[in-house]
Amino acid sequence: MVNLTIDGKKVRVRKLSTLLDAAGKLDIPIPTLCHHPALSPFGGCRLCLVEVNGSPKPVAACTTFAKEGMEVVTSNPRLEKMRRTTLELILSDHPQDCMVCERAGDCKLQELAYFYGIRENRFKGERRIYEKKDGNPFLVRDMEKCILCGKCVRICDEIQGVGAIDFAYRGMKTKICPPFERDLDCEFCGQCVSVCPTGALTGRMWANKGRQNFKEVDTICPYCGCGCNITLHIWRNKVRRVSSREDTPNEGWLCAKGRFGYSFINHRHRLKKPLIRIAPKEKDEGRGRKEEINPSSAPRPSAIFREASWDEALDYIAVRLKEVKEKHGQDAIGGLSSARCTNEENYLFQKFMRAVIGTNNIDHCARY
Ligand code: FES
Repeated sequence: MVNLTIDGKKVRVRKLSTLLDAAGKLDIPIPTLCHHPALSPFGGCRLCLVEVNGSPKPVAACTTFAKEGMEVVTSNPRLEKMRRTTLELILSDHPQDCMVCERAGDCKLQELAYFYGIRENRFKGERRIYEKKDGNPFLVRDMEKCILCGKCVRICDEIQGVGAIDFAYRGMKTKICPPFERDLDCEFCGQCVSVCPTGALTGRMWANKGRQNFKEVDTICPYCGCGCNITLHIWRNKVRRVSSREDTPNEGWLCAKGRFGYSFINHRHRLKKPLIRIAPKEKDEGRGRKEEINPSSAPRPSAIFREASWDEALDYIAVRLKEVKEKHGQDAIGGLSSARCTNEENYLFQKFMRAVIGTNNIDHCARY
């Protein structure tokens, strides 16, 4: 452990803690843009500069380790002036289109510009202008809004282990892109979008669907038994976006399905009631569409179903399972359960198959 003083307050932290960690322990805010607690320190944005006794220049709090006896100052007129100038420089090469930006209200750069009261920019000069082209179906990449904080690069590499993007070129031409500037072609987990502090990376499906006036509902992802915590952003009774909070067991990380696969919720073909398949005999009796089937030549006709209530459907299942079991034995029945159920539901289903039906014919579609 090491002991140090930050803004006159004493704090004791573990060895290899950064000054940012130590300040966080004291609830002392230090502005950051390129820092993320789950990613390796980068020290790119220079907003977290602090003064340390014995150091001739301010140091980045996110990359400087706490040492015994350090005395740290996180805010004074000199540091605040430096931060303001750094922000002005970042904003001098950033589109001023907050009115129409998808991230307005949820943009760290905008928040800091507001905090430092930056209305106009003193620095005029060359601006990066990029053609907005990307053929991928999920992400919009507006590189003119990129502040090169590198969070997307690090999360793709360090958390996802994919490395689909990286820094390319140098100096003014530096940009983040896939190899050879091709269209993005990755897993589309959207982790890069979740950590981007500006409007450089946003979801294509979210575009113009509303910004911050959402009702937020916390729930569980329906896609697999991992049960990640998700937050549905709802506007006008429709899900417009899915995100996840950092203080959840999945730490805010989601996969492509959890983050982008929500359009089924409002899909007009979504099944909302149980369907009972109409038996051929039933069809012949006029309760379904009559079809002449020649098994040798005709293609298999599509099944015909009718809507039923849950009570009717469950009674029907019970009767039919009993009939099959009595006539052909329990091993004539097999059960396939779903990846969209919870672990508990899947457990109950296998218990039902083994203990009630009496068969081990049970399988599950979820595979890593
Ligand atoms: Fe420390 Fe960006 S947060 S340099």
